[in-house]
This record gives sequence, C-alpha cells and structure tokens, in this order.
Amino acid sequence: MTQVDSQRLAIQGGAPAKQKPDPPMYPGGMAVAEEEEAGVLEVLRAKRLFRYYGPGETASKASQLEAAFAAKKGTDYAVAVTSGTASLVCGLHGIGIGPGDEVIVPAYTWIASASAVVAAGGIPVVAEVDGTLLLDPEDVERKITPYTKAIMPVHMRGAPCRMDALMALAREHGLKVIEDVAQANGGSYQGKPLGSFGDVGCFSLQFNKIITSGEGGMVVTSDESVWKRTNMYHDVIGALQLKYGVDELLCGVNYRMPELLAAVALPQLARLDGLIEDMRQRKKMIKAGIEDVTNRKGIRFREMADAEGDTAICTVFFMDSAEKAASAAEALRAENIGAGTLYSPDEIDYHVYAHWVPIMNQRVWAEGGGPWRWAKREIEYRQDMCPRSLDLLGRAVHLNVSPLLTNEDVEETVEGLNKVLEELG
Ligand SMILES: Cc1ncc(COP(=O)(O)O)c(C=O)c1O
Repeated sequence: MTQVDSQRLAIQGGAPAKQKPDPPMYPGGMAVAEEEEAGVLEVLRAKRLFRYYGPGETASKASQLEAAFAAKKGTDYAVAVTSGTASLVCGLHGIGIGPGDEVIVPAYTWIASASAVVAAGGIPVVAEVDGTLLLDPEDVERKITPYTKAIMPVHMRGAPCRMDALMALAREHGLKVIEDVAQANGGSYQGKPLGSFGDVGCFSLQFNKIITSGEGGMVVTSDESVWKRTNMYHDVIGALQLKYGVDELLCGVNYRMPELLAAVALPQLARLDGLIEDMRQRKKMIKAGIEDVTNRKGIRFREMADAEGDTAICTVFFMDSAEKAASAAEALRAENIGAGTLYSPDEIDYHVYAHWVPIMNQRVWAEGGGPWRWAKREIEYRQDMCPRSLDLLGRAVHLNVSPLLTNEDVEETVEGLNKVLEELG
C-alpha cells in the first residue's frame, strides 16, 4: 500500500483504515460464558422454573438477583420483571401515575419510555434535550403545568442526566422522578448509581443493553410504599404472598421474571463493572487520539453532566450541519468504523420523538383516544415541537465503543477518524 493510498478516504477508493468491521455491540451478550450456562443448568436440573415454588428446596434466582441489584444500586428494594418496558409501566404505577397525569419525557429516547406512560394512563409531554443529548432541565421547567406529576430522566447512550438540576426542579414543584436507566446500567452521577436518584429507577436487560438476559428488566426504589405498589402491580401472587392487608391490595397483572432469565442475569451483573472499565479505557484512547483534529476543526464532543459516571458505550461528536454529519458517518463506515447519525427526517427511528408515530397521532387500542381523553388541557404533538433536539441529533455522529475492540482496532479507528475528520470536518 502506498502512503497516498492509506491517506485517501476509503469512500474515495483508498484502503480502509480498519481491517475488519466493529465487533457486535452486545457487551454482556458477547460475554456469556460458563457461569451463565451453569446457572441455567442449575435451574433446569432442580426443575425450579418458577420463582415461588418448585419440587425442591433451591433458592429463587429471581430473589437473589433482586437482592444483588438493590445492593449494587444502593437501594432498599428491587423488583425483577420481564422487560425494560415492563419496569417502566410497573414503576409508573408504583409512583401513582394514572389517568390524565402528565409525565415529562425527553425528545430523544426509545419510544417505550413514552408508550409506558400511555400504558399507565398518563400523558407524555415531550421536552428538549441539550448538548448532553439528555433531558434539558430548562425546557423541563417550561413544560411543567398544574397537571404534571412526574419527570422521566432517561440516561440515553450510557451517560448520566443533569440529576442535580432535575431533582431540584422535582422538589420545587412537588413532582415524582422515574429514571429510565435502560441504556446506562452501571453509570453514575457524582459517584451515586443511576437509578437511585429518583423515586424509582427502571432498567432493561434486553439483548443490546450493557448486561443482558435476552429480555428482562428491574425496578429499584428505596421508598417502601413505591416498592409495595410496584410489587403488587407486577405480580398478583407475590402481592398475596407478601400478605398485604386486603384493604391495601391494588389490581395487578403479571410481569414476573422467570427463573431462567434470572439465572443468566446474575452472572451478567457480576460482569458489569469489568465491561464498563473495558469500554472506558477504549473510549479514552479514541477521544485522546482525535483530540487534535477535533480541536483544530472546532468539532465538539457530546457534553457530559459527569464524565466520570459515563458508561462509555459510545463516542458522539457534533458536526456543523446534518449534511456534514451524514457524509462523515458514511465515510467512516467505508473505513469499517460503524458510525451513524442520530436523526434523519427520512429514516424512521423510534429513538426520536418526531418518529413516534402512534404517540404523535395519539393512537392507541381503545377507540376515542386512550389516555388523551383524560387530558386536563389540550395536548398537541408537532413534528417541530423540539427543534433544538432535532438539530443536535441530526448533527451528531455516533460510534459504538465495544469492550471487544482490540488495541489494534482502536488504533485503526483513531486513524480512520483522523483521516475522515481532516478531510470532511
Ligand atoms: C431508553 C430505553 N427505555 C426503555 C427501553 C425498553 O426496554 P425493553 O426493550 O427491555 O422493553 C429501552 C430498550 O429497548 C430503552 O433503550
């Protein structure tokens, strides 16, 4: 290969900087090993497939997982459920969200955050994200009405929200806080685990999350009454077993976590810190390797409310325009670097409110408008209601940081980024 060839962008016919594509971005999923196998076999051999009983005397894996999760997050309670969405629905019931209650959600989050509000009978109100790509406390304040009951900070793409400002707002206005930690399990803000700030914290263990049992979720709280309510909602049998007074019982459904999932999630939880350490190390190297070109070109990295608490699952930087971001991402992909932008009006992506079609159109299963029929004021969703979020997300270039990237992969990633940003930045 000539010097000229290696400097030429791969998209223009040069040699790709990276020899092979990124490893699959399933941090915990790719780490599944003997411990997960042993846990599953243990459950199967004991025929203890259900958390509350089985033929033998073995302990429930779901109960063990709850205890381990609560200990890890520093909360008094945890409730294991079947998905992240289930954790949000149960958590929303736990904090008492009901018909017509407004819940403020960010413009950038997986649609499940908003549809869980709808499932609980609440009304999602969408607020802007700021340079962190997370809930902007100033816009949250503007969106508070007499009907607002809760704020849902979502720690998207691994990074912590501005929890100080959001908790202060919640206190000032008497609002509940439900944290969606689906994408930032193991992250923290000022040294405190994400999920332990709000009245309730909700996690997903779905396959592309940092740790996984394929599907699964967890609710954490330190408020006994929130725990009781969450528990009753997620499990009628459990509620009865906990022997609440008949007067205390509320209608519940069934989102109980199966033992087989808990058997996988337990060793995964033990892997969490190691995975995050590996991603942090790689992200640090990538950022350091492109600092010179980003400084010279005035390319800004995504802001961090607390960089120490970032789980480092990705690196994000902003270009001057959406066109430049799209070109840079395309050029990076040609270098074998799995890059993308975070919003395009033409590509359906349920992570951005403008594409939440059923929410935007207030379409649910019941005829007559679902929870919106209980709205205490007129609710309207418009494509352009959060213009700053769309601008930031459209200009963002996003790269996964897999814990499986080798030193060579990282070096080649840095080389490719330098090549592309030098030319297109
Ligand atoms: C931010 C966010 N919230 C909620 C969810 C829902 O989790 P699950 O897919 O486990 O229902 C996800 C993931 O899919 C997510 O990314």
